Amino acid sequence: MAHKHDPNEKVVFIGDSRIRKRDYSNVTPPDYTSYPGKSEAFIPNFLLKEWMVGVVVLVGFLTLVIAHPAPLGYPADPLNSAFIPMPDWYFLFLYQLLKYPYASGDYIVLGILGLSGIPFIALLLAPFLDTGKERRFYRRPIASSLMLVSLVAVSYLTWVSWDHYTHELEANGQTPEHIERAIKAKESVEAGKGRWIPGKEKIPAMVAADDPAFTEVMTQAQCIACHGAELEGGGGPALRGIGDVLSKEELVDIISNGKGDMMPPFKGDLTDEQIDQVATWLAQQKAE
Ligand code: HEC
Repeated sequence: MAHKHDPNEKVVFIGDSRIRKRDYSNVTPPDYTSYPGKSEAFIPNFLLKEWMVGVVVLVGFLTLVIAHPAPLGYPADPLNSAFIPMPDWYFLFLYQLLKYPYASGDYIVLGILGLSGIPFIALLLAPFLDTGKERRFYRRPIASSLMLVSLVAVSYLTWVSWDHYTHELEANGQTPEHIERAIKAKESVEAGKGRWIPGKEKIPAMVAADDPAFTEVMTQAQCIACHGAELEGGGGPALRGIGDVLSKEELVDIISNGKGDMMPPFKGDLTDEQIDQVATWLAQQKAE
């Protein structure tokens, strides 16, 4: 079969291959072996190539995951009212958008359904609205400018959202969780303790956990409601290992008179004997 070399012939390629398009309606289309050097078999050549690329990407990803373990946040604490919940970075723009007057308060339905629905429906309709054959982006001013505007808007909203967050932290005098986490993780590695997992700091074991001072008096007095069923902490601080920090006299004082705004005084609710019993037991709570 001789090839005609017509200089005006419009060359049409099939997909990304280097094979010219022909009308195969009356003949059996040839397979790749008819084009030596210009094509290749899907199995095994092409597939193998794809797999190789896949393996390289996977190994790269694995290396990244091992080098930078996913940051774990602190365990959820419903009693922590200072916590500022933040979405992941890629949702910050939506988070910010929902703070604006026409997307919140009385307009919350519009915010939830409209803001997420409009772009979604627009994307669904795009193939029907944008039917031009042109692929170069500067020849598609409407589609291109819409994309640019969205990109700018998303970047701006993300920035504003993060800016608000840092200001809020500053106003509350808080260290942002991601920075606190990074500092603790670094300290843990430097101290040779390995990877630090928030909320899994080693707290000392309970000493004499079956003592009636704990199982009866402290349980009935509801200490565990704030200090945790195993004194691991909760709304109040952990009390395990408290004997290393406070003396028995200090403990009697705190239990009798309370501490701060949150720790109630128990003088009256508990007899002096019971307070003494609890303080004696708490003073024994020392790390080995
Ligand atoms: C309503 C919650 C609540 C209850 C109930 C409660 N505590 Fe507390 N407790 C706290 C809080 C909050 C603190 C931290 C106060 C502070 O440091 O400002 C605290 C602090 C303490 C401390 C001092 C800890 C330290 O590290 O300085 C001791 C000891 C203590 N509580 C013992 C008890 C005992 C014993 C009981 C039961 C008889 C009890 N608490 C019941 C909330 C509670």
